[in-house]
Amino acid sequence: MPNIISADQFKKEEVEKILSRSAQMEEECRKGKIEEVLRGKIVACVFFEPSTRTRLSFETAALKLGAKVISAENAMENSSTFKGETIEDTAKMLCSYADVVVIRHPVAGALERAAKVAEKPLVNAGDGANQHPTQGFLDLYTIKKEHGRLTNLNIGFGGDLKNSRTLRSLLPLLRLYEGNKFYFLSPKELELPREFVKELKDHGVQFEELRSLEEALPSLDVLYMTRVQKERFADEKDYEKVKDLFIFKKEHLKKLKSGAIIMHPLPKINEIELEVDQDPRAAYFRQAQNGLYVRMALLCYVLNL
Ligand code: CP
Repeated sequence: MPNIISADQFKKEEVEKILSRSAQMEEECRKGKIEEVLRGKIVACVFFEPSTRTRLSFETAALKLGAKVISAENAMENSSTFKGETIEDTAKMLCSYADVVVIRHPVAGALERAAKVAEKPLVNAGDGANQHPTQGFLDLYTIKKEHGRLTNLNIGFGGDLKNSRTLRSLLPLLRLYEGNKFYFLSPKELELPREFVKELKDHGVQFEELRSLEEALPSLDVLYMTRVQKERFADEKDYEKVKDLFIFKKEHLKKLKSGAIIMHPLPKINEIELEVDQDPRAAYFRQAQNGLYVRMALLCYVLNL
């Protein structure tokens, strides 16, 4: 029974199949001829943390494929978790109602715990600062669609690299492809955790860590900006100190190659100036749209369809 818990679980062959199925889903949506392969199935979407894109794109994906959806948002307060129910018991119950269970949870590792007792496929829609594998897939799909390849690219990650679960899910997928170089652009306070750096070294990944955004811009094919994750700071004063340190400004566009793209998992707050949205290299809304096709493909993947 396939679960989707972490991006690290996937082999290149599976990744390629999912990317190609996502392209097929995009084509079916474009033509308006979608095969309802999930007819008769129920997809549960239970979110213990806020979401716009992940929850609603999963629900749309399920509906487009002919499934029915049961859903709980704000589940920390609106489910029996509020009364103290464990994630294991909640997951067990959801598996008795639905054929696939999509969960977002604030606690890193919550999905791994749930998967130990689940009798239906589970999909991790984000667990704390740990993983967001379906976002990793939609990011990979976007890079492939925009650049036509996933190899020999210079990819910069800017902003809150300490707390970014999207970065932790995209990197293991990108590592499957040769010749890519990564630039980690952040203030010291928000740098990539050292154990993650060690893992990259152990895998022989080519990378540089830089403290300014500007220096790397002319080399980049992809700039992946991230939001400073206010909800992961124990003390709001610490958040205030770093929240405005890494902002991609309109003037930075001059330094980017004409063929480069700017990505962001969204939501964005102030880390990209509003005027940048008008530039054709701003790919983040196209990226979010791709989430629908990729999640259609991932629902099929977990159901072996
Ligand atoms: N990128 C992402 O996970 O967005 P949401 O928080 O809106 O789901």
